Amino acid sequence: LDNGLGRTPPMGWNSWNRFNCTIDENLIKQTADALVDYGLRDIGYKYLNIDDCWMGERDEQGYIHASNITFPGGIKALADYTHSKGLLFGIYSDAGYRTCAGRIGSLGFEDVDAITYASWGIDYLKYDNCYNESIPERQRYEIMRDMLNGINCISTKRPIFYSICEWGVSQPFLWANEVGNSWRTTGDIHLGWESILDILQQQHKITQYAGPGGWNDPDMLQVGNGNLTIDEQKSHFSLWAALKAPLLLGFDIRYPPTDVLGIVNNTEIIAINQDPLGKSVNIAQSTKRMDVWTGELSDGYVALLFNKAETSITINLNFTAHLNVQGELSIRDLWEHEDKGAYNDSYSREVPKHGIVVLKLTGGTKIKEYPDFIDQ
Ligand code: GLA
Repeated sequence: LDNGLGRTPPMGWNSWNRFNCTIDENLIKQTADALVDYGLRDIGYKYLNIDDCWMGERDEQGYIHASNITFPGGIKALADYTHSKGLLFGIYSDAGYRTCAGRIGSLGFEDVDAITYASWGIDYLKYDNCYNESIPERQRYEIMRDMLNGINCISTKRPIFYSICEWGVSQPFLWANEVGNSWRTTGDIHLGWESILDILQQQHKITQYAGPGGWNDPDMLQVGNGNLTIDEQKSHFSLWAALKAPLLLGFDIRYPPTDVLGIVNNTEIIAINQDPLGKSVNIAQSTKRMDVWTGELSDGYVALLFNKAETSITINLNFTAHLNVQGELSIRDLWEHEDKGAYNDSYSREVPKHGIVVLKLTGGTKIKEYPDFIDQ
C-alpha cells in the first residue's frame, strides 16, 4: 500500500503469541519499558502492538472503548506512554462483527473506528477476519483502508500501518498490495517446530509478491516461546527475516532469557530483513532433509543452508545452481559473525539438526535474474 509506511518490514512486539487474552495496561507499559531497557527499540523493534481482547463496549454514538477493567486508563494514555518511550503503538480489530476471541469487531463501524484510532494516536492496525458474514475479503479490507486513508471520511491525516490478517484464504498476495502494508499468507502459527515447517513450506510460491510497501506475513515469531531448541529458534528467526516477514516478537520480553535475546538482537540478520532492496529469498533447492534458500541484497546475496533432518548434515551451496553467480565470492557467516574468506564455485558447511547457516556473499558476476527452483 502506497501510504509511505512499510518500506522495509515492520519490527516490534505483539501480545498474542505469549499472552492471548490475558493482557492489561500494566503488561503493555512494562513491555514498552523492556523494549527500551534491553536495547530492542534501538535495533529496530519499534512497534508495540496489542492484539485481541482490549475492547470493552460501544457507546450510544457507536464509539468503541477499551475494557475499563483491564485498560482503565484508556488506549490514548497507553499510546501516549508508548510514544514517550520513542516507540510506535499498534492495535487490533476485526473485519467482522466480532473479533476471533468474541469481542466487538469493526464491520459496519469502520468510519468511527478509523477516526477513533487516529484520535488515539495509533500507528498500526492488525485487522482480522472472524465473523465476516461471508462478505468477500477484498471488499471488507478495502473499506477500512479507505477509512484509514481518509478517502471516504474526514481525513485522519495520520498514516497507519495496515496489517491484513485474513490467513491467506482469498489469495491476498494477488490483491493486497493495493490494500495493506502486509498480509498473512497462512493460518495461525502454533507452538512447536511442526507449525513453523508447515508455514515455511507454503512460502516459496509467493515470495515474488513481497516488496517495499507490502509484505508477505507468515505470522508472528514464536522465538522464546514453548520448547523450541536454540537451533530451531535461530532457523525460525533467520528464515522469517530473509522472507522479509514482519519481525514481531511474541515472548515475554520483561523477563528475556539471555540465549533468546542473543537470537533476536542479531543485527546482521536484522539487516537482511531491513535491506532496502526488499526482495525475499526463494528456494533454490529443496529435499526432504534440507533447503537452500537464496536471494539478492542491495549489496550482495544471502544464502540460508537449512537442515530439516534429525541429524546434522553437510549442505553445499553451489554458486551457479543456487545463486546464478559466477566467479569468486567473499563469504561472511551471520551467526558466527565471521568472514570465511573467498571461494570459487561452491561452499559447504555442516549444519546441526533443525539448524541453519546464514551466509552473506559479495562479489562474483550475475548470470541471469533469479535462481530456478530445483525440485528433488
Ligand atoms: C486470529 C489471528 C491471530 C490472533 C487471534 C486473536 O486467530 O490470526 O493472529 O490475532 O485471532 O483472537
